[in-house]
Amino acid sequence: MAAPDHTVSNCPVHIAVIMDGNGRWARQRALPRHAGHRAGVKAVRRTIEHAVRRGVPYLTLFAFSSENFRRPPDEVGRLMTLFVEAMQREIDELHQNKVCLRFIGRRDQLADTLVQRIEAAESMTAANEGLRLTVAMAYGGRWDVAEAARKLCERAAVGDLDPADVDESLLGSSLCLAGVPDPDLLVRTGGEQRISNFLLWNLAYSELWFSDVLWPDFAESDLDAAIAYFGRRERRYGHTSEQLEASKC
Ligand code: IPE
Ligand code: IPE
Ligand code: MG
Repeated sequence: MAAPDHTVSNCPVHIAVIMDGNGRWARQRALPRHAGHRAGVKAVRRTIEHAVRRGVPYLTLFAFSSENFRRPPDEVGRLMTLFVEAMQREIDELHQNKVCLRFIGRRDQLADTLVQRIEAAESMTAANEGLRLTVAMAYGGRWDVAEAARKLCERAAVGDLDPADVDESLLGSSLCLAGVPDPDLLVRTGGEQRISNFLLWNLAYSELWFSDVLWPDFAESDLDAAIAYFGRRERRYGHTSEQLEASKC
């Protein structure tokens, strides 16, 4: 991986990606769906390398949703095997490149071998200060919010928390991405324009960039196009353009 070049101005601090379109990529080639998922892993590698090159501090990738367990068992099983293999193959290089890798989602729904790899990868890379890479696996945005609420209720039940103190900041800091800035930019490939239960809370003010490109075809130039789109947005957070102009003076 090359060093960051920082040539793109107004680069998003946190990019979140819904990597969609593997199945259609395979179908277009008369291949089985798992061939699309395999090709998708190569696109993940390219995207991580390019995010490092562009100096993006945080990258969050949606690899498998809680709803994806509804897929045929054979597809789910092959995907899980692919995740284990990819982790085994890539972890040393990610570590050498100072990537700090974390996983969010329901570990109780993942196979023991995968959870072991996840935990080993997290502890191996925990002190790294390069790209903060988060992989959402068996993740659902509603589950994340419900879990946060449950944890706060447990604290209130034992007298450790006054319910009157529950506010946006406290709930936000109880979510999986506590401590990580909200995504500035959400990228979704594969042509659909929906959130599919990704980071429901954290995406409140993200800029949205949808592409018809199928995930296995996602190239460095596509990430650059998304970053360039982000650079053209005016983020108002409820203010007026005039207020923002005045604050620049
Ligand atoms: C995304 O590609 C990968 C996962 C959801 C695991 P899909 O498998 O959803 O691809 P399409 O949408 O069927 O083309
Ligand atoms: C979203 O893609 C989940 C991931 C990319 C991991 P899906 O393909 O599962 O989304 P839907 O079902 O079309 O909304
Ligand atoms: Mg899909």
